[in-house]
Amino acid sequence: MIDLHNDIDEILITEDEIREKIQILGSAISDDYENKDLVMISILKGGLIFLADLLREVTVPANIDFMAITSYGTDTESTGIVQLLKDLSSPILGKEVLIVEDIIDTGLTLNYLIQTLKARQPLNIKICSLMDKSVRRIVDMPIAYKGFDVPDQFVVGYGLDYGQKYRNLPYIGVLKEEIYH
Ligand code: IMP
Ligand code: MG
Repeated sequence: MIDLHNDIDEILITEDEIREKIQILGSAISDDYENKDLVMISILKGGLIFLADLLREVTVPANIDFMAITSYGTDTESTGIVQLLKDLSSPILGKEVLIVEDIIDTGLTLNYLIQTLKARQPLNIKICSLMDKSVRRIVDMPIAYKGFDVPDQFVVGYGLDYGQKYRNLPYIGVLKEEIYH
C-alpha cells in the first residue's frame, strides 16, 4: 500500500483544529447572515471539503453553488490567468455571496473571480478562506472569515492537492520538499 501520509513532512493543522475553527466560522456566518439571501460559492476542487464541513455548521438557510477554474502556472505557483471550466448554476443578482476558498496565496485567482462575479450585480461579495498565506499576497484581498494564517510553505490535504493528489488527507500538512523538487 502506498500511504499518502509518508509524503508529509509535518502536520501543520490537525483534524481537531480544523473542526474547532470551522465551528467558530460557522457560528459567525450564521449570526451575520440571519434573514439574508445567502449563497455560498465553492471554488472547485480545493474548496469542496471545506464547504461541506462549513455548511453543516451554518444554521441559517444557505444556497450553495460551484465554480470550477484552472489557473495557469506551475503546480505550486498560480499566475492569476484563469480559465472558467464550470460556471455557477444560478444567477446571483441581488444575493449575498460568500466565496468559500481553501487558501488565498497571491490573491490573483480570487481577484479575477470577484471581477467576474461583480458584473452580475450581487448585493455583496465576501470571502471565507480556511487559510491565508498573506506573505505572498500580490493583490489586496480582505478576508471576512479567516481560518488560519499559514507560512510560505506548500500545503496539501483537506481538499488541497499537489498534482491532483493528497486531497483526501484529513489534515493540512507540509509536503516533503523532495516530492516537488
Ligand atoms: P492565488 O491565486 O495565488 O491566491 O492561488 C490560489 C489557489 O492556488 C488556491 O485556491 C489553491 O487552489 C492554490 N494554492 C495556493 N497555495 C497552495 C498550497 O500551499 N497548496 C495547495 N494549493 C495552493
Ligand atoms: Mg483553490
